[in-house]
Amino acid sequence: MRAVWITKAGGPDVLAVRESPEPRPGPGEVRIAVRAAGLNFAEVMARQGLYPDAPRPPCVVGYEVAGVVDALGAGAGGLAVGQRVLALVRFGGHAEKVCAPAERVLPIPDELDFPEAAALPVNYLTAYHMLFRVANLRPGARVLVHMAAGGVGLAVLQLCRTVPEVVTFGTASAAKHEVLREQGCTHPIDYRAEDYVSRVRELTGGEGVDLVLDPLGGRDWKRGLGLLRPVGHLIAYGFANLSGGERRSLPRLAGQFAGVPLLTPFGMMNVNRTVSGVNLGHLWGRADLLREELVALLDLWGTGAVRPTIDGVYPFAEAAAAHRRLGERRNIGKVILVP
Ligand SMILES: NC(=O)c1ccc[n+]([C@@H]2O[C@H](COP(=O)([O-])OP(=O)(O)OC[C@H]3O[C@@H](n4cnc5c(N)ncnc54)[C@H](OP(=O)(O)O)[C@@H]3O)[C@@H](O)[C@H]2O)c1
Repeated sequence: MRAVWITKAGGPDVLAVRESPEPRPGPGEVRIAVRAAGLNFAEVMARQGLYPDAPRPPCVVGYEVAGVVDALGAGAGGLAVGQRVLALVRFGGHAEKVCAPAERVLPIPDELDFPEAAALPVNYLTAYHMLFRVANLRPGARVLVHMAAGGVGLAVLQLCRTVPEVVTFGTASAAKHEVLREQGCTHPIDYRAEDYVSRVRELTGGEGVDLVLDPLGGRDWKRGLGLLRPVGHLIAYGFANLSGGERRSLPRLAGQFAGVPLLTPFGMMNVNRTVSGVNLGHLWGRADLLREELVALLDLWGTGAVRPTIDGVYPFAEAAAAHRRLGERRNIGKVILVP
């Protein structure tokens, strides 16, 4: 089978389409013939050598796929060969075939096409989990979301619309603001042209927000904490500030780590604030919880409340262009790879 390999850490040119043997489904596993696979920011960072969870190169990454079940391992129940599915996979998704434990594979409706289905697992699950499991989003809440025009950001905006009167502040470059507005963002903020902290203060009469969703990390976590109202909540879910340019830069890494705020329970108690961390990649042991949330998302898809925005669909042979699209910050929504 063909797969997109990260041959070594580096720029997009280190990607190569190579042949390798098809994986065999182990006990309780399902093999999927992949029709579409999501490309995530984490996988761009993996290629750059900046994502500690990724396997060492040469490797095939990819956390999410949609396709058709083409083989069942012993004891893999509830699914049939030929069934259309989506799945969370722990790497190996950027390939023609991938195996996953049956509990992380869900049937999809006929009307849900493969690219859209492949856009749901990581971005929407992260957004759903943060808003409804970790933060308990309430009517009227003020939510600041960074990287708002990316895959997770647009998912957050759509899900915020399912709760009455939520006010959203989304940072993104100016060219993407129209899309943000269409997706329900109350206040798009051009973080490149203005200081988002001052802008949020101005828009909230100095009060700040109830929830900050921050995948930037470093100094931005500190700045986000300063924007919280009492009882406010910051969720750290990424460290995109480590990336930038196509390769790893040690001075940038050191500067960003030096900016991470140091917190104590005592300090948090006295300011009535909450800080949480979310890393879907480390929730693998809670397949029950992930499945429950994915089912809820498929239900929301059924009602029309969520509709993934597909930025572009790239054949495996053009994986380098797909990586560049994310790395150069040009995408609006999800970038998809197809075999
Ligand atoms: N913890 C988890 O479980 C989890 C799961 C999924 C994703 N994440 C994290 O969530 C973040 C968003 O992921 P995604 O897949 O939605 O991203 P994405 O679709 O690749 O969105 C990237 C967009 O974010 C904007 N951006 C703002 N600041 C940036 C920066 N410092 N570096 C790069 N891009 C920046 C850029 O748009 P403009 O600058 O043009 O606005 C860029 O186009 C990433 O940090 C990712 O690692 C975490």
